Amino acid sequence: MTPSDNSNHANVAVRAVEVHKIVRVGEGSLSIINGITLDVPCGQMLAIVGPSGSGKSTLMGLLGGLDTPSKGRIYLDGIDISDMNEFHLTRVRNEKIGFVFQFFHLIPTLTALKNVALPIRFAVHPKYDPHERARELLTLLGMADRTHHLPRQLSGGQQQRVAIARALANDPPILLCDEPTGNLDRKSGQQVIDALKEIRRRLNTTVIVVTHDLTIAEQMDRVVSLEDGQLTEDRSIELER
Ligand SMILES: Nc1ncnc2c1ncn2[C@@H]1O[C@H](COP(=O)(O)OP(=O)(O)O)[C@@H](O)[C@H]1O
Ligand SMILES: [Mg+2]
Repeated sequence: MTPSDNSNHANVAVRAVEVHKIVRVGEGSLSIINGITLDVPCGQMLAIVGPSGSGKSTLMGLLGGLDTPSKGRIYLDGIDISDMNEFHLTRVRNEKIGFVFQFFHLIPTLTALKNVALPIRFAVHPKYDPHERARELLTLLGMADRTHHLPRQLSGGQQQRVAIARALANDPPILLCDEPTGNLDRKSGQQVIDALKEIRRRLNTTVIVVTHDLTIAEQMDRVVSLEDGQLTEDRSIELER
């Protein structure tokens, strides 16, 4: 069934309806996202694959409310974010979305624990005790014995697991990961993917992962392919769970 603005939003974490992104470049304009329609059910692990420059990061930015569409609509948990101003967008983003990037963007002078606790300290209505929550999440990610390490004292894979814990700090229902293993060797990359699977299993988080790596994509529930800003393939994967 093609999702439309009027159909039921129950159990749909992320919905894009005919989304376009057109940017001005010099005198002209460039169409980066060309009519994407996509429903991501709550708790799904979705891989987005596609060649470099196909619009994957732009799409993630739109789905996560870092950017607004030129045309079309985007809903997070049924909330239409398409025309929101920055103030409201920031609020919805903080509540709904955790971001994980290729380069971990941890604060170098803070320990793993403090990096994870930081978003809770900044939350307007914190749900958790920052240190308690940070310790819990780091434990869930297999980092219980690294809580007092600085980022530079951790391997790339460990840093990424701290970044995932930080993304989960305020309990977002949706995790958007843009090439989370792009800077890691295969073994560390697989550990990061295993950590994401564990998160989904334990917290029922909706997880969207952009990846170049087909062996990673095949481990998700579903793989969509992006080419020139359009979805060219949408494939469900049967997993023995
Ligand atoms: N703000 C922007 N202005 C102009 N072009 C952009 C902008 N953002 C992205 N692009 C272009 O849009 C295309 C898609 O970019 P991107 O979403 O980063 O692709 P991917 O993540 O799949 O590599 C690329 O050709 C890129 O150069
Ligand atoms: Mg990209």
